[in-house]
Amino acid sequence: MEPLTVRLPRINPAVTHMDESIIRDMTRVAEEAGAINLAQGFPEYPIAEELQRAAITAIKKGINQYTRTWGDTLLRAKLATHLHDHFGLVYNPEDELVITCGASEAIMATLLALLARGAGVVIPEPIYENYLPAARLAGAVPHILTIDPFTGAWDPAALDRACAKAQVLILNTPANPQGKVWTRDEIEVLAEILKRHDIVLVTDETYAWITAPDHPHVAPATVADLRSRTVTIASFSKTYAVTGWRVGYAAAPAPLMAAIRNVHDFLTVCAPAPSQRALVTALDLPPTYYSEMAAIYRSRCDLLSTGLRNNGWRTNNPQGTYFLLVDISDLKIKDDRRWAVELAHTRGVAGVPGSAFLWDGLPHEDRPSDRRGRFLRLSFGKGEELLLEAVQKLGRP
Ligand SMILES: Cc1ncc(COP(=O)(O)O)c(C=O)c1O
Repeated sequence: MEPLTVRLPRINPAVTHMDESIIRDMTRVAEEAGAINLAQGFPEYPIAEELQRAAITAIKKGINQYTRTWGDTLLRAKLATHLHDHFGLVYNPEDELVITCGASEAIMATLLALLARGAGVVIPEPIYENYLPAARLAGAVPHILTIDPFTGAWDPAALDRACAKAQVLILNTPANPQGKVWTRDEIEVLAEILKRHDIVLVTDETYAWITAPDHPHVAPATVADLRSRTVTIASFSKTYAVTGWRVGYAAAPAPLMAAIRNVHDFLTVCAPAPSQRALVTALDLPPTYYSEMAAIYRSRCDLLSTGLRNNGWRTNNPQGTYFLLVDISDLKIKDDRRWAVELAHTRGVAGVPGSAFLWDGLPHEDRPSDRRGRFLRLSFGKGEELLLEAVQKLGRP
């Protein structure tokens, strides 16, 4: 008998291009070094008691099988009211909403639905780590719009040039990692450019509820006439501290939504049924739940940023999310990934090196990555005691 030849599998180049998630990598480094992990983004925040009870009840009451592919009917109805009452968004739960396995799946399903092979997608930088892999799996070509990580400034002329080559733009507001919350005025400028180039806007509003008091979240689909060309994506993960429940959503005008729902169906069938049903209860939480949560994250932000600044570090002033950027450009670091690993070992605090969020810092086939140190991302989603200990451990630059 002929021996079987074991052939190497053919791997999609979009996948070989993927870098291991630096965030997960820094978590491993933190464990090895026994360091405080301010690299990973999941929140240390109590889950509301009624939510915990609702999840147990859902399972006991037999909500354990597939839901309708586009999501639990009760949750979609409640979500439509919630989006209207809090953000002024108007979506019909029947044909304009889909419940997904987190915002992560909503992003993937949307980009696969909208981007044909070779299509252009504008991605603002610093870049949240999911967007490039999703764009590449769709076979799309990324065009990067640089945003100053510290001031949040961007150039409308540069956006105009990028949009001339694209069909879709991804906007993350509040933005991870730089904490920028896009203002209504800025979104109006953006809207005019998107309209001129007939671009679809895909938003990621995962941190909509975690903002500073003077920087309220503006849902882009409520600005100018953007609604008709926008896919609004967000998540229950951070707002209710349930990142492991895997529930997020996308909302869009019916023709766009029909395409997204098709991809979602074949990706995951549906989001976890008990999580979806339990989150109906989350949407009944009073407004004080959200104001208290935002205030607690703000005080954690102040604690970490003031502590670091008092020690001589320079930081940004995040308007939203629970991430703080520490400006390390003065330290003249040649390889910020190596530096971040050393920092975890020598100072006992793990953060995410800024090059992980920058186009030039990512792997390229034709040139080496530029990993000069610009910033380190630290999460203040953690408890106060841990943040104080981190400040003490980081000491002076
Ligand atoms: C900007 C942003 N979008 C999306 C996600 C993913 O959220 P989900 O848990 O809903 O998939 C995260 C998680 O860290 C995030 O920071």
